Amino acid sequence: MVASSSSSSGTSAPRPTSSGRMVAVQEMTRLQRRLFELERAFITTATSLVPRVGEPELKYLICQHVWESAGHARFIRERGRELSGFGQNDTVRPEIKRVYLEAAVAPDEACALAGFYRVLKPQLLAAYRHYLEATHLLADWPSRRLVEEFILDEERHAQEIQTWLETTPAIDDWCAHLQSAYATLGGDSGQPFVGSLPDGFAWRQETAPYAHPATCNRGKYPLCSSVFSEDPEETPIVRAWLTDPKTDARIIRTMIYVWLMMELDAVDYLATVFIDTPEAPFDLHHDMARHLWDESRHSQFGFRQLPKHGIDLMTVEHSLDLYNILVNMPPAERYAMMTMEFEAGSFPTKAHIMDRVRELNDFEADTLLAFDRNDEQNHVRYGHRWLPVIMKLCGVHEPVDVFVAATQKRFAELAEIHGGKTPHSLSPADRLTGAKIAAAVV
Ligand SMILES: [Fe+2]
Ligand SMILES: [Fe+2]
Repeated sequence: MVASSSSSSGTSAPRPTSSGRMVAVQEMTRLQRRLFELERAFITTATSLVPRVGEPELKYLICQHVWESAGHARFIRERGRELSGFGQNDTVRPEIKRVYLEAAVAPDEACALAGFYRVLKPQLLAAYRHYLEATHLLADWPSRRLVEEFILDEERHAQEIQTWLETTPAIDDWCAHLQSAYATLGGDSGQPFVGSLPDGFAWRQETAPYAHPATCNRGKYPLCSSVFSEDPEETPIVRAWLTDPKTDARIIRTMIYVWLMMELDAVDYLATVFIDTPEAPFDLHHDMARHLWDESRHSQFGFRQLPKHGIDLMTVEHSLDLYNILVNMPPAERYAMMTMEFEAGSFPTKAHIMDRVRELNDFEADTLLAFDRNDEQNHVRYGHRWLPVIMKLCGVHEPVDVFVAATQKRFAELAEIHGGKTPHSLSPADRLTGAKIAAAVV
């Protein structure tokens, strides 16, 4: 039998039925439910790493792992719902949420990264391995194939993150603390929450609640407020040049690569929405994880292409304004600005840019821009689907168009306060500007 909605609507684990007939299935369903919730909790909290770590390559990797986790969770939920007792809701139990939130409140970004990747991800991998050992490989064949594949993914994630992990006494201490927290979840058997905490253990989240960084970390790269202006001596993207038919298409190509690379700001601010919406339905976080990964791919388009066109990435300043402004807005406003304003408003200019770049017969550039456009169309669709849901989660009940109009106004006000505050790291002589891009193609 399938658990009734009344027995599965709360946050507790699925209950055993009175009959023992389905015990063998329910045992495995309980483990699947746990795996689903662990993956969900990872998506909600590990995204908080993104604005805190500095290296773009590391941000890209975390976004990729989060997207893969969303895929795991989705397929586990699909399989779990075929089984007796998985439950119909998407809720993560508070005990699991508390452990993952603890990982997010680490004292610094190196500890945070280590907590997720040296403690929580290995535990997840162990839980997947335990599942394979515990299940009947023929009777539960559909789950087995999924779990075997996810184990390979998790092993690859562990490999991919290896070069980014540091070891210091402080990091080791933090990992031991988080290990103790994880032990409250009772181990891989899925027995619910039998573990106890060591003497003197104190949850850091109770004294240092999670807060987004006021600005996003870009590591070794130079910074600025914005890469867009009308002044070719000031910024690499000169707005008027993008649409001026006299502009050489090669200049436009370099400028769009800078623009795409700077979608790293979207990566940083979209990543903040997950932990701010812990009660979101899974499908919302699933689509947002896809959105996040798409933006990280768009940023990579620029990050990987610019050096091929002779641009030294250490001369390209990273713009911080959008993060710095949006992080001061509630998550519904952040998401509304992103999808209903920036993304919905970008199509005409980008269409013109695509037409100009096609003059160059640069198949790779055309391909990247076509996929970017396709992805952006999906992002606007996500916005229409999920903004009303995020508004509701934030207690906003006004019509969407009224809310978006008020948000645009508020963004303009906050831009006055929080925008334009990041000075150029580099002198005009040392940084990439529109004038230099133009000079390089002559
Ligand atoms: Fe994008
Ligand atoms: Fe987008």
